[in-house]
This record gives sequence, C-alpha cells and structure tokens, in this order.
Amino acid sequence: MSTAMMKAAVLTRYGAPQNIKITTIKRPVPKANEVLVKVYATPVTTADTMMRRAEPAISRLFMGFTRPRNDVMGTGYAGKVVSVGAEVEDFAVGDRVYGESGLGFAANAEYVSVAADRVIDWVPMALSYAEAATLCDGPLTSYHFLKTLADVQAGQSVLVIGASGSLGTAAVQLARSFGAQVTGVCSTRNVELVASLGAQNVIDYTKTDFLQMAETYDVIFDTISNTSYGKCKHLLREGGLYMSPVLNFPLLVDMLYTRFFSSKKAKFDAAGLLKPQQLRGYLENISQLIIDGKLRVIIDKQYTLPEAVAAHRYVDTGRKRGNVVLTVVHTPTRNRTDTLTTYPQNLIK
Ligand SMILES: NC(=O)c1ccc[n+]([C@@H]2O[C@H](COP(=O)([O-])OP(=O)(O)OC[C@H]3O[C@@H](n4cnc5c(N)ncnc54)[C@H](OP(=O)(O)O)[C@@H]3O)[C@@H](O)[C@H]2O)c1
Repeated sequence: MSTAMMKAAVLTRYGAPQNIKITTIKRPVPKANEVLVKVYATPVTTADTMMRRAEPAISRLFMGFTRPRNDVMGTGYAGKVVSVGAEVEDFAVGDRVYGESGLGFAANAEYVSVAADRVIDWVPMALSYAEAATLCDGPLTSYHFLKTLADVQAGQSVLVIGASGSLGTAAVQLARSFGAQVTGVCSTRNVELVASLGAQNVIDYTKTDFLQMAETYDVIFDTISNTSYGKCKHLLREGGLYMSPVLNFPLLVDMLYTRFFSSKKAKFDAAGLLKPQQLRGYLENISQLIIDGKLRVIIDKQYTLPEAVAAHRYVDTGRKRGNVVLTVVHTPTRNRTDTLTTYPQNLIK
C-alpha cells in the first residue's frame, strides 16, 4: 500500500519568508492518544513569524539550534477529525475541532496529528473554520493574561496597547466582558474598529502620547511590547500590573525586581508553550463568550496554504488588523491515497 501524502508549509532554515517551501511530505499517523485533523484553516501569527526568524535567540533552545527540529510551520488549526487513536475517548471521526499544537508545530499543513488531551476543543457552532483557527492565538493568550496573570475585576481600569492586533482585539473584548473600563491604543485607521469592540476610550497614538496623559490604570497589557514597565510605571495605580506577552530581557528583570521590591508588578508568561492543560480549561469559557456575542474574531486577510510566503510577508509588516489565516483547499481523494497536485503551480513558491 502506498504511503498517504500531504502538502505542508515547511521551513527549510530560519530567516526570511521565502525559506518556507510548500512541500509534499508524509501525512502523519495518529498515535494512541492523538487525533488526526484534516485542516481547513490555519493562521499565520506574529508568533509564527518570530519562530520563523528564531527570535528571540533563546527560542532555539526548544525549536532547534541550527535548524527547526519540527520543520512544518504553524501551531493553530481548525478542521475535521478524520481518525482517532485507540486511547482517545473525547473526540470522534467527523468532529469539527480547533486547537493549538504548541511545540509540536506542524499545523500549516493539510493534516495535523495532535494529542487529544492538550489544547483542543469543538468549534463553536457560530464560527467558521477560519475564525475558529485563530482562537488559540489572540483570545486564548489574552484570556490567560487578563484572567490568570491580572485577575481583572469589574470596575477596574485596563489599558490595551496594540488594540488592533490579534491579542489586542481579543483583549479589548475580554476585558469588557469582565466588566472593566477599557482604553485601547491604536493608529487612526483602527480607531473605529477598536471602539466597535467595546473600548470606552480609544487613544490614537499618531495624535496623542498616552505616556504623557494623567489617566492611571489597574492593568496595562502591552500586547506588542511597544513600551516597558519603566516607561509605564507612572500610569499604574497602587498595586497595578504591567504585562506583555513578548519575551525580552528587561521585562524579565522587571518581573524579578517587582516581585520582591515593588507594590506595582511586571509580568510575562509563555502561555501556549508552557501550560497546555491550564489553557484547555479556558476554551469552554471562550466558546461561551462567543455564543453570548461578547467575543468576535477579526480576520484581516485570508490566503491559501500555497500562499504561506505571502501571508508571512504581510504579517511581517507589523500592521495586520486582528488575524491572518491560511485556508486549506482539499481536492476529492476518491481512489487516491494522496492529495498531490492540489495547487496551481504558480502559487507554489
Ligand atoms: N507569550 C505568549 O504566550 C504569546 C502568545 C501569542 C502571541 N504572543 C506575542 O504577542 C505579540 C502580539 O501579537 P499580535 O499578533 O497580537 O500583534 P500584531 O497583530 O502583530 O500587532 C500588530 C498591530 O499592532 C498595531 N501597532 C503597531 N504599532 C503600534 C503602536 N505603536 N501602538 C499601538 N498599536 C500599534 C498595528 O496597527 P498600526 O500599525 O496601524 O498601528 C497592528 O494592528 C507578538 O509578539 C507575539 O509573538 C505571545
């Protein structure tokens, strides 16, 4: 019997978008605790582009020193379960699922095999695969930061910097759903979007320097690491928290220092990579917020899987609004064991 094959976005070496090649590789076979998902949508996130560049350098410790250990890109996915391992009880063939493969990567592909007890859940009825594929980036990460790290309470004041990005668009809505007073920082072209997500105040950073304003906050969530704890400290109320999801050395120093020597705190966390079980517990809450109409997904652009290089180039601009998604087009595979020649050759760069 011939081996089943699939297309995948493979990173040949760290660096530029063009190092990604659409390649035909073996389709994964699920282990006893895994489900095989036929992927219909898979995002290209800012975190993916950083992994492509191996930034920060310390990430090579878990991704591979000289070249990527798991060379198929991407961690987010949404699709249909097509096969389950012998030990899997929660999911069945035909289930619409979404999730996050974490350090296993391999999601920018026609199929991904993932552990059924990690970050995976059923796609909420109201969502498309493209929307669901983004839930483990912005919504899940922002939920973790605002709930676990900040424990945002009703009536608190939250400042979201980078409010038009993937984490930011989710953070604004989540903080509102927790009852907070939300201020979003974005550029002129995104003011309307951020206000429509529920921010009571929107600061256009091209016109106003929020660092010079008198307003103070219980929580500052700098989703894009455009500031620092030191720069924002005067905007924090007593006992306030500055946090960012972007790993950098000064933030780690601030985190350590403020833990012992300051009533105002600084925090970082690598949510998706380090705490899959804790994050899985949040997926149900996120689904409920979607059902309740309190959380919606913003999709900026969609590409097809063979256009992964173009998608990376766009995300590299740093100007995406919300999310960028690759859609995966599967051709009928009747009497075939592979999915070759699925794509127009001119799209395969
Ligand atoms: N720690 C974790 O577990 C974790 C998990 C997921 C992601 N991350 C990290 O989180 C970071 C954020 O990712 P993301 O996808 O949310 O960001 P993003 O979408 O790449 O952010 C881009 C957005 O920021 C806006 N922006 C640019 N400069 C700005 C400024 N000076 N002030 C305010 N807004 C500005 C851009 O619009 P304009 O240019 O028009 O302003 C654009 O809408 C990434 O570094 C990613 O690696 C960490």
